[in-house]
Amino acid sequence: MKIIMLGAPGAGKGTQADKICAKYDIPHISTGDIFRANIKNNTELGQKAKSYMDKGLLVPDELVVDLVVDRVKADDCAKGYVLDGFPRTIPQAEALDKALEASGEKVDFAINVEVPDENIINRMSGRRACVTCGATYHIVHIPTKVEGICDKCGSELILRDDDKPETVKKRLDVYHEQTQPLIDYYTEKGVLHEVDGTKDMEEVFGAIVNILGA
Ligand code: AP5
Ligand code: MG
Repeated sequence: MKIIMLGAPGAGKGTQADKICAKYDIPHISTGDIFRANIKNNTELGQKAKSYMDKGLLVPDELVVDLVVDRVKADDCAKGYVLDGFPRTIPQAEALDKALEASGEKVDFAINVEVPDENIINRMSGRRACVTCGATYHIVHIPTKVEGICDKCGSELILRDDDKPETVKKRLDVYHEQTQPLIDYYTEKGVLHEVDGTKDMEEVFGAIVNILGA
């Protein structure tokens, strides 16, 4: 089962991807998490990516495509995977399709989590993220047991550098311009499904499970 999560920044892609991966026992591949881990470890990729991410811009396609195409060939992806934050441009989607076609595979589901821009900024200011394990919380909607500490791995939580309101606005502009065209792209491929991301997270997950099948 090869699944792509689409949706604006803060729509809940990461939150739902975590739940899908736990239920179907497949890996969660988040390009944003991969970049944040590289930034934390001060790698060359991390340094390059940070300069774009901090401005709310997309990292250039050439820094992302090979990384993901290699990752999905790993043994743990044999049963499928959830791609969260990739593809984000038409060239990325085409590169993924080309790589999959070469081994007779294809994307099975593209799930678009729909949330209007008005709701997003409010959500982002309350988000707390774990850079060690990638878990995501919200100070009101999904609080941790101990404030500021990840329930799953015990690491300290951060407020992401790109969650400042002015950067979030830029990310939304970039989303509408460069990523939203993927909705038509996957509609034409016959794999697009929409869910209402403004609902409670369990309701959103229920809608996704209905699409994927139990
Ligand atoms: P990335 O990390 O992918 O960020 P994003 O797409 O902007 O999305 P977010 O992670 O911000 O939001 P989300 O949809 O995962 O929402 P979440 O579940 O956390 O990318 C960051 C940057 O990396 C990009 O800007 C770009 O620079 C670069 N990058 C990454 N991939 C790239 C690529 N392929 N090409 C080029 N550049 C790339 O939820 C948000 C908050 O809401 C949380 O606090 C959560 O707890 C809460 N929440 C979730 N669901 C609900 C609900 N139903 N009700 C109430 N609250 C909820
Ligand atoms: Mg995310």
